[in-house]
Amino acid sequence: MKEEIAQIQSDALSAIESASDGQTLDQTRITFLGKKGRLTTASAGMKDLSKEEKPVVGQLLNTARSAIMDALETKGRILQDEDDRASLEGLDITLPGQPLHPGNLHPLTQLKDRAIGILRRLGFTLAEGPEIETEFHCFDALNTPPEHPARNEKDTFYFDSGKLLRTHTSTVQIRTMEAQSPPVRVIAPGSCYRRDEVDKTHLPAFNQLEGLYVDNDVQVGDLKGTLEFFYRAMFGEDTEVRFRPHFFPFTEPSFEIDARLQLKGQDPEWIEVAGCGMVDPAVFEEICKVRGDDLYHPDKVTGYAFGMGLDRLAMIKWGIKDIRLLIENDARFLSQFS
Ligand code: PHE
Repeated sequence: MKEEIAQIQSDALSAIESASDGQTLDQTRITFLGKKGRLTTASAGMKDLSKEEKPVVGQLLNTARSAIMDALETKGRILQDEDDRASLEGLDITLPGQPLHPGNLHPLTQLKDRAIGILRRLGFTLAEGPEIETEFHCFDALNTPPEHPARNEKDTFYFDSGKLLRTHTSTVQIRTMEAQSPPVRVIAPGSCYRRDEVDKTHLPAFNQLEGLYVDNDVQVGDLKGTLEFFYRAMFGEDTEVRFRPHFFPFTEPSFEIDARLQLKGQDPEWIEVAGCGMVDPAVFEEICKVRGDDLYHPDKVTGYAFGMGLDRLAMIKWGIKDIRLLIENDARFLSQFS
């Protein structure tokens, strides 16, 4: 048996040595080490050996097996190297590469970051709230009664649970005041949802940025100054801003803000850019009820709130004529904002 093992070993080593490709090498491995391979078959003879011989022959078998395995591995590496070198032949590594476009932030993200940057400078910090909201946070707490048209099934996405997709970011006003004592000065950018028909200026999912400032002596002049500063920083120092009386259930008085802007290739015109107003005392009273304290009592605090459409601002800023371009992910459009 000893001679047999030595023979197998030397046959294996020379077969490995002469293998010229990976497939032959693999076949050689099976021939010698496989389940029915020569060395495997030979080791079956162990059971007929005497007690004294067994360890000696066992040792020989092990040595042979590891010698063959080492040789297989070494040869495998050599063949792989040859393969790699062959596949590089004819390749000119001095040719110019394929340029990779580095990509850029989505225009909406750029605009949002810029808006946040401007308002941060004025001391606002970021706040957030869920997109799936309760009717309380979206409507009741914002002084919007059950019969208000915004609550209609035709305008709002309701879940069977009674929750809904928030129709505006004003929900974050309520969430912030529930959780934080005054003074608060927060902004909340985020997605909102309404059952709108899709067209050039409407999508059922859109983006707003909410602002809320509550302290013990906040006045309309503060609101006006803040938003004028904002739109000038956003659209240019000489941007004119005007406030028109309006109605929102949760602010009193309420305004719509127009900025006089020039869209590409058009005459300057007044464009509506936000809704805002002084927080309605009814909202503060509701907050006091929920909190169980009177820190937000309308005798103690006043505040202003504003909400602006971010998609709309992006469209104005870059003269984008169709809001759908913002969600189509067309690289030809998006790469213009790098
Ligand atoms: N939430 C209002 C809207 O979506 C905008 C708004 C926010 C108005 C804050 C006043 C104060 O139209």
